[in-house]
Amino acid sequence: MSKPDFTRLLMRWHKNVNQRQMPWKGEKDPYKIWLSEVILQQTRVEQGWAYYEKFVAAYPTIQQLAAASDEAVFKLWEGLGYYNRCRNLLFTARYITENMGGNFPADYDSILALKGVGPYTAAAIASFAFNLPYAVVDGNVFRVLSRCFGIDTAIDSAEGRKIFSKLAEDVLDKKQPGLYNQAIMDFGATVCKPAMPLCGKCPLQQVCFAWHSGRVNHLPVKEKVLQKKNRWFTYFLFACQGKMLVSKRTGNDIWQSLHEPYLLETEEKPAWDKETVFTWLKDQLDIAKARLVHVSPVFNQQLTHQNIKAQFIKIELTAIPPSLQPYMWVTPVEAAKLAFPKIINSYFETTSFQPTLF
Ligand code: ADE
Repeated sequence: MSKPDFTRLLMRWHKNVNQRQMPWKGEKDPYKIWLSEVILQQTRVEQGWAYYEKFVAAYPTIQQLAAASDEAVFKLWEGLGYYNRCRNLLFTARYITENMGGNFPADYDSILALKGVGPYTAAAIASFAFNLPYAVVDGNVFRVLSRCFGIDTAIDSAEGRKIFSKLAEDVLDKKQPGLYNQAIMDFGATVCKPAMPLCGKCPLQQVCFAWHSGRVNHLPVKEKVLQKKNRWFTYFLFACQGKMLVSKRTGNDIWQSLHEPYLLETEEKPAWDKETVFTWLKDQLDIAKARLVHVSPVFNQQLTHQNIKAQFIKIELTAIPPSLQPYMWVTPVEAAKLAFPKIINSYFETTSFQPTLF
């Protein structure tokens, strides 16, 4: 298909057919656009929607977000995953407030220079807030362009990225880049979907290469298949006099800044029973007296590159032993204010365990 045809048909669809409603659509405040785009970076619109509304309600301005405590913002982000986004969000809100007079930058390069903002997010903010001619390029755009124009160069190859970025720029409607970017995002999400695209209703069907050559389900092409690694976590829930041990995750790993009970990671699937639990408590922590309340079934959480498998072992202590004194000990009320990974909240919420938690 010709490039002008693509742009014309896509914009016509957006104007006449696209009914997709979203709270950030038509928004002009760069702070709110940035917030929505950071939330949507690795999150589906259906899930991100409520978080966006919670954030806008709690922090209507970038200054209010900048002034919030880390714990409060992480708690609001809880459940959304990819917590680096949250860390960067706070960093950047504080940076703009303290170093840029609270004014969101208004040109592409300055937006791109912000921490946590990549080319996709910068193009979205620049086009939506300032109507600057930058095309968004992401998985949706790769898919739409590869199908419509019949490009089978792998989207995860250096050559593929070059070809698709150039094409994305060529087909951008330079007069209305904000509208165009929203159009291609919505089109990729609602019509030219990854699985079961709505080709029967597609306004580009007549000019679509993939449709005419029966290649819709074969495009786009990817070079690498993601190999997921299994990780085995055993969480010891130490409870003592109405308090629970928690520790804040640091280091260059998943869930940075979130909280968790005492973690033991093993190479292999552990096989816990009463005897191995008590041997481990004695050998590792020098705990001789304890009550084993339960050993949970294995919980699962899929991350992009890893499969987390976690088992929870609840232990009641009558006094805090020296080996566990360096940790934080919190009441249930205090624990409720802290952000935990999803897999740990799933365990906390398992009703069969709830009565035995503290
Ligand atoms: N994904 C990322 N940004 C989006 C937006 N503005 N609208 C819909 N989906 C999106």
